[in-house]
Amino acid sequence: MFANLLVLLLVIGLVVLFGWLTYRAVRAKKLWVKIVGGLGAGLLTLLFTAVAFFGAKGMADTYFPGAEPAPNLTVAGTPEQIARGEYLVNIACVGCHSQVGADGNPTGQHPLSGGWNIAEAEGFGFIGDMVAENLTPGGKLAGYSDGELFRVLRYSIDQQGHELGMMSFLPYREMSNEDTEAIIAYLRSLPPAPTNGVTGDKMNFLGAVMSGAGMFGEAPPPAPAVVTAPPRGVTAEYGKYVATFGECRGCHGPDATGAPATSVSPAIPNPRPFVSELTLEQFTAVMRSGVKPDGQPFPETMPWQNASKMNDDDLAALYAYLTTQP
Ligand code: HEC
Ligand code: HEC
Repeated sequence: MFANLLVLLLVIGLVVLFGWLTYRAVRAKKLWVKIVGGLGAGLLTLLFTAVAFFGAKGMADTYFPGAEPAPNLTVAGTPEQIARGEYLVNIACVGCHSQVGADGNPTGQHPLSGGWNIAEAEGFGFIGDMVAENLTPGGKLAGYSDGELFRVLRYSIDQQGHELGMMSFLPYREMSNEDTEAIIAYLRSLPPAPTNGVTGDKMNFLGAVMSGAGMFGEAPPPAPAVVTAPPRGVTAEYGKYVATFGECRGCHGPDATGAPATSVSPAIPNPRPFVSELTLEQFTAVMRSGVKPDGQPFPETMPWQNASKMNDDDLAALYAYLTTQP
């Protein structure tokens, strides 16, 4: 944060410098100095003004997001909550928060000790680091209240009130209060494991400028304080909810109809035409094996492993959702 503030001050200094040079050039006696100098310095003034504006906006959005206070909440931690939380976390969170292997990538295995630098791994390390947190009580979450952990999942706001870069792109704000509490109950029940290296965000100034300019995609709408899930069952309505905790909508767009490319992610296809060609049995087999009926495996960019851990009813609901017009 302070390094970014210094860069911002430097850029503002450049605006002043080039603004002054523009002024001097325009008032110069020689015509060519007026034109060339005035245009050159003028353009640089505009450029640095835009950089300063978007950088300041990106920093304000991240460090002062106007956070909701953490709710006053105590999660009971019943065996039912822990079991439901285990199901959800092993679908939704292990892909990023699991133990990392020697290559620095997540293994998909417990303990959920974090340490995966997703920005570096996915080729956008030029905006800084985004390292998945240790989700066991052996890391910083031990110092979070249940309400603060709830606020991470619902609003993507950390204990300091800063916005969480990666988590804010995931669809957990639409997860019900009941399921959010179940996840908290389960994470509290895990055996503590030490944190793997330095975790969390370290956005640099370029990241702030790009974020301020909206280059990472649209900001999601504000989340309500109470979210209820549709009744559980093999329905398109519940399937949409499965596509929420199953992450599908996070990548394939809010209606799972595909998402355009942003500066940090390629375009993601609409899965519906493909799924509509499959029977439920074929869909279930594809999602459990990661291999399409023509023998083509999903590439690594498509985390079918999430869906492979879903129970039959949830997969059937997901199928109903993907084969019903949104
Ligand atoms: C796409 C990868 C990804 C997935 C999936 C994911 N996370 Fe995260 N998570 C991150 C990253 C990266 C961070 C570091 C902060 C940031 O950039 O958001 C993080 C940070 C956190 C934090 C720490 C927040 C803080 O205050 O510092 C918590 C708690 C958390 N995640 C919980 C979860 C839970 C629970 C799930 C599943 C429901 C989940 N995450 C799924 C990538 C992910
Ligand atoms: C991290 C982002 C991400 C997530 C999460 C994700 N997908 Fe995908 N998905 C992709 C990408 C990228 C492709 C395109 C892969 C390729 O190039 O073949 C894809 C392809 C697909 C396809 C094949 C489409 C076709 O025409 O071949 C289906 C079906 C699909 N996804 C369903 C799902 C479902 C269901 C979920 C949730 C359980 C899900 N995806 C979660 C990124 C994602």
